[in-house]
Amino acid sequence: MTLTELHAMKRRGEKIAALTCYDASFASQCAAAGVDVLLVGDSLGMVVQGQATTLPVSLEDMEYHVRCVARGAGAAFIMADLPFGSYQQSPQQAMHSAARLMAAGAHMVKLEGGRVMAETVEFLVSRGVPVCGHVGLLPQSVHLLGGYRVQGRGENGMVVFEDAHSLVEAGADMLLFEAIPDHLAAKMTAASPVPTIGIGAGSQCDGQVLVLYDALGVYPGKLPRFARNFMADTGSIQAALAAYVAAVKDGSFPAAEHTFS
Ligand code: KIV
Repeated sequence: MTLTELHAMKRRGEKIAALTCYDASFASQCAAAGVDVLLVGDSLGMVVQGQATTLPVSLEDMEYHVRCVARGAGAAFIMADLPFGSYQQSPQQAMHSAARLMAAGAHMVKLEGGRVMAETVEFLVSRGVPVCGHVGLLPQSVHLLGGYRVQGRGENGMVVFEDAHSLVEAGADMLLFEAIPDHLAAKMTAASPVPTIGIGAGSQCDGQVLVLYDALGVYPGKLPRFARNFMADTGSIQAALAAYVAAVKDGSFPAAEHTFS
């Protein structure tokens, strides 16, 4: 899987199936099930390390998990989160951090933030690092947002729309929308020349991502509204992963009950 192929999938209207992944064994299971994109997400801070937020995750943690995933990923595309504090200071700081994740095996980095990150995105892309921009709910800003709340409702929708637009103008090759109303995500996807991946953003995005542990029902916390436990109706991890990929590809996930309006 390559960025060129992911762009072609958008043009063909073929849905992109993504899952977070943190180790080699799950990477090979996901790849075998046909997951297109493995996101080494900083959600590992919560689901692997047991932290309350993603904020304590370090660049060294991310490098370690990217290396693990890269060993099992086969042909899947690997996206890696730039962790909190590793890119916000300057484009140069972001380049230094991104280079470490790319050297560890990532094919693209993801960073949180809208127009304020446009200069950084331009800097990274012009130096050979593909970037996915993450807008909507930004978990690394949880304390500023006052919790994990849906973003982009009402007049704030235009702010999220413009944020995504400025990232694409700066050269972002993919967008991730988290916890925004489905009608906003649909409008932003129609306007976007690059693939959009949603989590809690409705069914009209070009692809979907879930936290692997939510999809397999192994995280002890409450399942977020936008997630579905694919283990519940299947007998094995491999069958659950295949069911997730099939449901994304045929558009049956996310359903209305996983969506915000
Ligand atoms: O770290 C993560 O798991 C994410 C989610 C949006 C999928 O970024």
